[in-house]
Amino acid sequence: MASDRKSILKEIANKISSGENLTDLKNQFMKSLGVVNPAEMMLVRGELIQDGISDTDFEVLFDMSLEVFRETVQSQNPIAPRGHPIHTLMAEHSLLMEYANELHTLTKTLKKGERESEAVFIDRIRQLLGFFAESETHYLREENALFPVLEKHGLTGPPAAMWSEHQEIHEIEKILFEHRSESNERIIANLENLNEVSARLSNMLASHFNKENNILFPASLRLFGDHEWDLVAQDFNDIGYCSYSIKAIRKGVFIETEEPTVSEAREVVFGSGKLSVDMLETIFNHLPIDLTFVDAQDRVQFFSESPDRIFVRSRGVIGRSVQLCHPKKSVHIVEKILSDFRDGTRDSAEFWINLGGKTIHIRYFAVRDSKQKYLGCLEVSQDVTEILKITGEKRLLD
Ligand SMILES: [Fe+2]
Repeated sequence: MASDRKSILKEIANKISSGENLTDLKNQFMKSLGVVNPAEMMLVRGELIQDGISDTDFEVLFDMSLEVFRETVQSQNPIAPRGHPIHTLMAEHSLLMEYANELHTLTKTLKKGERESEAVFIDRIRQLLGFFAESETHYLREENALFPVLEKHGLTGPPAAMWSEHQEIHEIEKILFEHRSESNERIIANLENLNEVSARLSNMLASHFNKENNILFPASLRLFGDHEWDLVAQDFNDIGYCSYSIKAIRKGVFIETEEPTVSEAREVVFGSGKLSVDMLETIFNHLPIDLTFVDAQDRVQFFSESPDRIFVRSRGVIGRSVQLCHPKKSVHIVEKILSDFRDGTRDSAEFWINLGGKTIHIRYFAVRDSKQKYLGCLEVSQDVTEILKITGEKRLLD
């Protein structure tokens, strides 16, 4: 950190210790320093302590820097026009940051013993937690519509890092969501935890959104052409939005519908019959399972588009390396399955997970031709919640 910035920090810390008004000091911080990353703050901590700043005053200064950081991210204006996918994401960042800051303030106020507006505050806390639950589509749009296009432009590291951070955000949110169905009494009893976790969420979002707003999004605006933005907007619309989103608009002029073509007759002839391409596609989309096929080079080649797919897939994912389609923490499992399939030591792999109260059965199959040449991997996912409840027989039509 430059020495003039360090001396401003020291000056503010001294004013904190002499009891000056914290709001005025925060304004001074914002005006003269702007954003100081938490990591930067920790780097100067030693020097400030050595210069006589107490631990307690540094804590206040550190919290002030966090507040300024969060408020700066919250007030950042979108760098693309309304209706552009980047505008949609940045407007959501701003709102989510605002919601996180509000959640933190509400839990802090309740923790201090504010009881008069307790019920109203708790209702709002539940509503804010609902907004975070909805924000899942925000992350899915980034992961499935934006990141694949960045990767096609050769930018693979930053989207992977952002995806890992999404996982961290979801881990924090998971703890918060446990409080959603609690009674008011339980929420009051758990305020300490709620306050601590909401501070973590606020800081994590500020750091993450700051990187996306100032590095990743400007890079996408530089790299993508109109046609690509049109596809991203289409994928955004397919994946869906939060109730507070400003939807992306497709310009539509560059999109040619990607019709599958096989022959002039548009028929595929199998050993056991023939189907038109339309029939084939419609059958795939009527299957009560999700299919994804990855070729021998580990690139996504096809996925079925049933109306209630379990795992979101956007058309931008076609051609994407499958390793990039999984969060870092599970990519080693994918690598292991694919290498076992490739060297023939395994033909299938099976998992089952709980997802939003549903049991999801996920299977991977090695696809080999008649000469045992490996063609790729077929992923089959199915919601088996209702199937698991089946007992006895059902022979009559409802
Ligand atoms: Fe993100």
